[in-house]
Amino acid sequence: MSSALPDSLAPGWLHEPADANALAAGVWPARSGRDARGRLMLNGIPATRLAETYGTPVLVLDEDEVRERARGAAHAFAAAAERHGTTARVYYAGKAFLSTQIARWVTEEGLKVDVCSPGELAVALRAGVAAADIGYHGNNKSSAALAEALEAGLRTIVVDNIDELRRLDAVARAAGTCVRVVLRVQSGVHAETHDFLATAHEDQKFGLSALDAEAAAALIHETDALDLVGVHCHIGSQIFGVAGFRESASRVIDLSIRLGGGEPLPVLNLGGGFGIAYTSADDPTPLPVLADAIIQAVAEVAAERGVALPELAFEPGRAIVGTAGVTLYRVGSVKDVTVETSHGTGQRTYVAVDGGMSDNARPALYGAQYSARLADRTSSAAPALTRVVGMHCESGDIVVDHEYLPGDVADGDLLAVPVTGAYCASLASNYNHVPRPPVVAVSGGTARVIVRGETIADLLARDAGVDGANEPVIGSEENA
Ligand code: LLP
Repeated sequence: MSSALPDSLAPGWLHEPADANALAAGVWPARSGRDARGRLMLNGIPATRLAETYGTPVLVLDEDEVRERARGAAHAFAAAAERHGTTARVYYAGKAFLSTQIARWVTEEGLKVDVCSPGELAVALRAGVAAADIGYHGNNKSSAALAEALEAGLRTIVVDNIDELRRLDAVARAAGTCVRVVLRVQSGVHAETHDFLATAHEDQKFGLSALDAEAAAALIHETDALDLVGVHCHIGSQIFGVAGFRESASRVIDLSIRLGGGEPLPVLNLGGGFGIAYTSADDPTPLPVLADAIIQAVAEVAAERGVALPELAFEPGRAIVGTAGVTLYRVGSVKDVTVETSHGTGQRTYVAVDGGMSDNARPALYGAQYSARLADRTSSAAPALTRVVGMHCESGDIVVDHEYLPGDVADGDLLAVPVTGAYCASLASNYNHVPRPPVVAVSGGTARVIVRGETIADLLARDAGVDGANEPVIGSEENA
């Protein structure tokens, strides 16, 4: 318990809360709260009921929050663009979390959808998203994937590199069509975020350098199957400040003016990456402020060069769905450990839950920080420094690295971890043959499954040896 021993294990950003039951503003969906019995309520439904109905772990996604954020993003970018005399298309970056329902919600609220693989494209199409409203990304799209996209009616493709450009040219010729190309470029800006989340500096895999973009433009001009319509740059993800976005936007419009021979190309896509709060220590810039600052930066360059602003595009993912998700876990084992550190003795409580890195890989991949609260009750026990861990066979299987939870958290409690709407379901795995949890949408006091949970039978269904060894498909005689 924290009063007996100093919390030498707590990071500087984490402060012992006055109330370890409080739901921090900006971290939980707006319609979360506690009922008179202290139970966590998610959009009018007790978390305990959700857990009883759907089992744990379960990812609860607040549909109303997603819709509001989608509407808010569409409005923020459109309003900022309009102030500077242009327009903005806002794509939802489906990699954050895509299902047919989510695609319908965001398109009904005015967004387009951005996909980066044949699988994501199939979901968007199955949801009924119009081909003209789908953006297509990816750094290594195969000829088959490109052909499939053209067949589905897509006519604009974001091209990452020269090889892909050549493949697209061949595929467009074979289809007898002309494809609008947006070139993904590097702006040279290293976003202030985790290294794996920064995507526009030179030494990483995405996009074309300015020099290669000029070579790509020359190739496009030589063929009638391709039409160069714009440039795209995404500097990274989970970015809080405006400086990197502004700098990158200024450089990219300059490049666009060069590629356009003195006028910017018609489309300028500035990607996504808008950060959200995962814990109460995070302080991201609000989306409308970011939108205005970025568009202002582009407008300043355009004014200096004496050119009109092109049509703008943005691709928020996390900012639309991240805060709408809350994962409910059942607590199993609780252990206290005492640790000697160079600056004193610390005590930490390990709380093990029934999920972990298979439903949220972000702590293991990026050292991402989360928070947690008891969901079945409140407690007046003194807060204890806690690490919430999963049930997988890895010590890096951490769900919440540092949090103060009531010191009486026990086996059988229900624990809620907020901000799991983005890049949790989409990065989920079956490590240790753990089935991926269901996703349940809540809206106006109702709940329904939008992605069915896996069963062990689903996992066994892929095991081709269940009924004994299969006949080989390649026979040993044919290898000469
Ligand atoms: N546009 C492009 C071209 C992207 O590559 C991405 C994200 C986005 C838009 C959307 O970024 P957002 O607004 O969601 O930050 N798995 C990592 C994030 C990887 C992001 C990849 N690209 C994570 O969990 O933090």
